[in-house]
Amino acid sequence: MIYLDHAATSFPKPERVFRAMDDFARTSAANPGRGGHHLATEAEAMLEDTRRLLARLFGFFRPERVVFTLNATDALNMAIKGVLKPGDHVITSMLEHNSVSRPLNRLAKEGVITLTRLEVGSDHRIDPGDVERAFLPATRLVAITQASNVTGTIQPVDEIGKVVRQRDALFLVDAAQSAGVIPIDMGKASIDLLAFTGHKALLGPTGTGGLLVGERAHVTPWREGGTGGDSADPVQPSAYPYHLEGGTPNVMGLAGLREGVRILIESGVETILPHERKLLASFHAALRDPSKFQWYGTEGGVGLVSLNLPGLAPVELAAILDGQFGIAVRAGMHCAPYAHRHLGTFPDGTVRLSVGWKTTEEDMKAAAQAFNEISADI
Ligand code: ALA
Repeated sequence: MIYLDHAATSFPKPERVFRAMDDFARTSAANPGRGGHHLATEAEAMLEDTRRLLARLFGFFRPERVVFTLNATDALNMAIKGVLKPGDHVITSMLEHNSVSRPLNRLAKEGVITLTRLEVGSDHRIDPGDVERAFLPATRLVAITQASNVTGTIQPVDEIGKVVRQRDALFLVDAAQSAGVIPIDMGKASIDLLAFTGHKALLGPTGTGGLLVGERAHVTPWREGGTGGDSADPVQPSAYPYHLEGGTPNVMGLAGLREGVRILIESGVETILPHERKLLASFHAALRDPSKFQWYGTEGGVGLVSLNLPGLAPVELAAILDGQFGIAVRAGMHCAPYAHRHLGTFPDGTVRLSVGWKTTEEDMKAAAQAFNEISADI
């Protein structure tokens, strides 16, 4: 099987990640709690270490404000619903995943906020000038994805961040497809809220993710409960990370995520993007006639490419790849319907190939060969 769906989740995870979860589950997987028994404090120490590693990875100076969540969707909802107040205006883009679009659309539909959804250019990039022009006196939040999960386009977050900071709004970045692929420096990019998932390029298991909450952001908790301490406090404690972390965390998953982040820090995040681009270039070079396909992407994006083969619906092409060639890709709208309105591929979507740490040049050549065979009959 050739797995080209790393943008949905990385598979398989590195052996070290499996082992870290297994070891932790057998030796220390107690319920973390400050001042508890030794296993509880060991579990807490593992969480603190994971926060430190993530803060280091993302150029963030406040590890205690790395809040663990279930995934990027959970983190984005926490940020959006935690910072917005009635009357606020939000700027977002056509490239957003439903995890950004849906919470914003509901708030707008209920009249809580007003929303500007920016068009993007033919290069699928958000123009920082458009962000500036969209500002209103009530603009409180700019929420964008750093790398599109449909086109792979990397957005100019440093420039957009400058605009947002100058206007004294908050900048929320969805790093679901960029964390672990592109070096991210929250300080340099003036990012106030960074939402990431643990199970894609960070190489951890599903059920892990987080929100990094910069000092300018005041996030009202939307999940309140036990924090392993401060039990006498009648309301959620204001101290981070507990402010946003009610309930027992996914310690086993986070032990795996810690190992994934360690692997990335050891190998250097800056090595990942060149590796991914080389793989996409091998695929392209091995196609007999690339002009037979419609391409939706930007050169210079993250390691995914969206395409269609005229005459075959995306789901049909994906089913042939899976059923006849053992190649796993994702077809459809990839939970980003506005991106497909922009691309003109709504509602059928595209076929998306996405590479990851385990993908080889041989995989890409074999995938291209399958595309050559399928397109020969069209
Ligand atoms: N958001 C993930 C994807 O793009 C699941 O496939």
